[in-house]
Amino acid sequence: MIDPNNVPRHIGFIMDGNGRWATRRGLPRTAGHKAGVDALTRVLEACNDFGVEVVSVYAFSTENYKRKDAECAFIFDLIKQFINQKTQDLIKNDTRLVVAGDLEYSEKLDAETKNALLKAVEETKECKSHTFVLCFSYGGRHEIVDAVNMLIKEGKTELTEADIESKLYTAGIDDPDLVVRASGEQRTSNYLMWQSAYAELMFVKDFWPDFNKNIVEKCIVEYQRRNRRFGNVN
Ligand code: FPP
Repeated sequence: MIDPNNVPRHIGFIMDGNGRWATRRGLPRTAGHKAGVDALTRVLEACNDFGVEVVSVYAFSTENYKRKDAECAFIFDLIKQFINQKTQDLIKNDTRLVVAGDLEYSEKLDAETKNALLKAVEETKECKSHTFVLCFSYGGRHEIVDAVNMLIKEGKTELTEADIESKLYTAGIDDPDLVVRASGEQRTSNYLMWQSAYAELMFVKDFWPDFNKNIVEKCIVEYQRRNRRFGNVN
């Protein structure tokens, strides 16, 4: 049972294993990404039901541009459709969309997808109760380097942690308490590197398309068993 007084405020999900999920079923990788969108809808609903304020998902990394053009284009199209379909639901649920990433990183990213994302960010910007962070065209190292370069351009010669934080895509959003990776791989792959310095990490064997409310519940229950010390002693 989840203790309602100790629900992680911010959960990050690494949505891995779409390709393997599809291959095991004799389906094209794209079928896995499609099923991944349904899993995302289930996970967002579950987090909402459990009272999680901020959900971040790793939708596409700067490294993912190495994939074939057709796979990249397919994922961009899914994301565009998802955003276009869900914007009204986000507004109804008082959820702000934040796109964390560099939309100018690659020419592979089409203008329609970019514009759909920017439009949804604009339309949800006054929403206050929840935040949905879409890490898209995102790389943790790239984000930090960009932040430092911005500060250099502003003439700063000595930086504090607060300076860097103020230039991250997630500026003003609390750090993730919990980062969950699907598919059994045990690494964080350049995801929210700065922000997850003190996140609890969880590696779940299920592929992302199989994620559901029950898995989210198990992760939160396990999180509540962890002893977070932040470098202090008990
Ligand atoms: C990882 O699985 C998944 C991705 C790189 C893309 C994530 C995209 C989605 C879940 C689809 C839609 C997203 C949104 C926000 C609507 P993989 O392809 O690396 O799987 P594999 O490791 O088994 O090959």
